[in-house]
Amino acid sequence: MNTSISGFSKLSKSQKIDWIVETHFSNQEEAKATLKQYWNSDNKLQQLHDEFIENTITNYYLPFGVAPNFLINGKMLTIPMAIEESSVVAAASKAAKFWLKRGGFKTEVLSTTKIGQVHFMFYGKTETLQAFFQSVKSKLQTDAKPITENMEKRGGGILDIELRNKTEDLAGYYQLHATFDTLDAMGANFINSCLEQFSSTFKREALLFDGFTAVEKQIEIVMSILSNYVPNCIVRAEVSCPVSELSDDKTIDPDAFAEKFIQAVKIAEIEPYRAVTHNKGIMNGIDAVVLATGNDFRAVEAGVHAYASRDGQYRSLTHAKIENGIFTFWMEIPLALGTVGGLTGLHPLVKFAMRLLHNPSAKELMEIVAVAGLAQNFAALRSLTTTGIQEGHMKMHLMNILNQFDASAEEKVQIIHHFKTHIVTHRAVVEAIENLRK
Ligand code: HMG
Repeated sequence: MNTSISGFSKLSKSQKIDWIVETHFSNQEEAKATLKQYWNSDNKLQQLHDEFIENTITNYYLPFGVAPNFLINGKMLTIPMAIEESSVVAAASKAAKFWLKRGGFKTEVLSTTKIGQVHFMFYGKTETLQAFFQSVKSKLQTDAKPITENMEKRGGGILDIELRNKTEDLAGYYQLHATFDTLDAMGANFINSCLEQFSSTFKREALLFDGFTAVEKQIEIVMSILSNYVPNCIVRAEVSCPVSELSDDKTIDPDAFAEKFIQAVKIAEIEPYRAVTHNKGIMNGIDAVVLATGNDFRAVEAGVHAYASRDGQYRSLTHAKIENGIFTFWMEIPLALGTVGGLTGLHPLVKFAMRLLHNPSAKELMEIVAVAGLAQNFAALRSLTTTGIQEGHMKMHLMNILNQFDASAEEKVQIIHHFKTHIVTHRAVVEAIENLRK
């Protein structure tokens, strides 16, 4: 059967659905009903969602939860989280509650510089290119003025433009490496517009530069694009307390726990297989807040993981130490976030999330997101080094298993009661349902 189609994008939403179900589904009515049950009855809201992306046929829901009790630099916050995985919100909440009684989280934005590059090929003399770059550098900035004017009024804009010689890695390859401060905007559109302007000025001026030969004048721009690697847009989040206060559970000795916790972090610092899972746990918290606040989690993920391998080996993003009886646990990560532009002014739940966070600046959002990541890692490591992860995770996952088996409200009450005193495993839950239904 031919399942290719030309002109799909031009079809109406219902024509697209018709084509999809006719081409790919034997039970067409059921497939259509599955899609339609997620449509919003408010047509305006549905249209807004339809227009976020292309070829939209329905909405894909993610749960939107909240983790209360976060004390960050002395300010109380309830953090919104959009995520599908059970136990993440509970873990963040538990860590927030734990650190609330121990002074809370301390954060600091260490830098906010973002990067964009014009990648181009030039096969002439490097010295002549450098002379041309020096002659054209201020023109690059002046030509971009219509784009940068408003950002400059607010205190941001282009910080610098450098010529970088990359010919040792690739013959003829150079870059205009530009740095920006985009304040409360994530800045992707601003940076890309500046870069495209730089490339057209650079190409145009090269044709007029007397120092170039006819061949050298033909600079070949390959592409102009921001970098999602932002090692100079860094936020630090930290918690600390006396080791003696590190346990709120009589069964956990604080000294032994602190030692084991630090060993767990050290293992993730030196062992990439562990580091990836360790950092995945951090991203549980980070992505959930990034998504809830309408930011680009793919950009954050790519940048964070590149940072985790900046010395050539993939390592833990968090660190821990004991000094003079004080346990300190911290993380420094790159985060390029925005609180204006993009989805932030459009998506009703993103607006809600921003209000819940007291309309943070981009810097404040960097701090909140980093805290969610640190809290998540603390909760996961606490479980991993004490009870093991499955106990708490499966306790939270219980409802998913019950839903898989279409448990009724009454069955849920009885089974949840049963598992207050029994360990949750998939098999144990299935057995409990079967016993109840006998
Ligand atoms: P617990 O001690 O059984 O919870 O922990 P509790 O019932 O005693 O409640 C204590 C507090 O936890 C609550 O306080 C809440 O803050 C929170 P309260 O609200 O009662 O004042 N809490 C909840 N919040 C909302 N809904 C709930 C809920 N239950 C507790 N239903 C818990 C249970 C799951 C929190 C704990 O075992 C835990 O933190 N586990 C870690 C879970 C985790 O990390 N999950 C992420 C998924 S696993 C993964 O992907 C990452 C990993 O591989 C990363 C790595 O390897 O590093 C692990």
